[in-house]
Amino acid sequence: PRSIWLSRHGESEFNLHGQIGGDANLSARGELYAEKLPALVRESVGDDRPLTVWTSTLKRTIATARYLPGEYNQLQWKALDELDSGVCDCMTYSEIAEQYPEDFAARDEDKYNYRYRGGESYRDVVIRLEPIIMELERSENILIVTHQAVLRCIYAYFMKKTQEESPWMAVPLHTLIKLTPRAYGTEEKRYDAQI
Ligand code: G3H
Repeated sequence: PRSIWLSRHGESEFNLHGQIGGDANLSARGELYAEKLPALVRESVGDDRPLTVWTSTLKRTIATARYLPGEYNQLQWKALDELDSGVCDCMTYSEIAEQYPEDFAARDEDKYNYRYRGGESYRDVVIRLEPIIMELERSENILIVTHQAVLRCIYAYFMKKTQEESPWMAVPLHTLIKLTPRAYGTEEKRYDAQI
């Protein structure tokens, strides 16, 4: 049966400082994950199956996918870019809490629907992911390297998680997730790169 592989980008310089959004490079640990990813993918996919790799247009996902075999087709989708945090782009959560306390509280109250000033909500991301989901449904063996908020939305779609819980799910760094849709539901397997 066909499967879908999901991964966050390797740890970025922004992850190290607790900053959100932006277009940072990978940290040293993130680079290590990029180097380990081909072996992790080979372990899960096998040698004989062709794979197509989708990334976002941001540096950290492209860098994470760059050591994957050249035989794999790679495609960059703007629709896979991280949730746009608008005026809060590049800030830390404590800076947001300090500069936009009402927004910070409102987001905590209803994270799915909260839309950053000049940015997006989780609901907005789900809408922009519609073409991706449609393409996924009719494709064979895709590996998606993208961002935590986007992965939460894709994962929630396949694993039938509710709108309330999906924005709060932890998607670990440096872990490859394999989803295999079956008649009775989606099977999941995780591969930890141990970095
Ligand atoms: O960098 C931002 C995260 O991937 C999204 O986190 O929606 O929990 O703030 P959040």
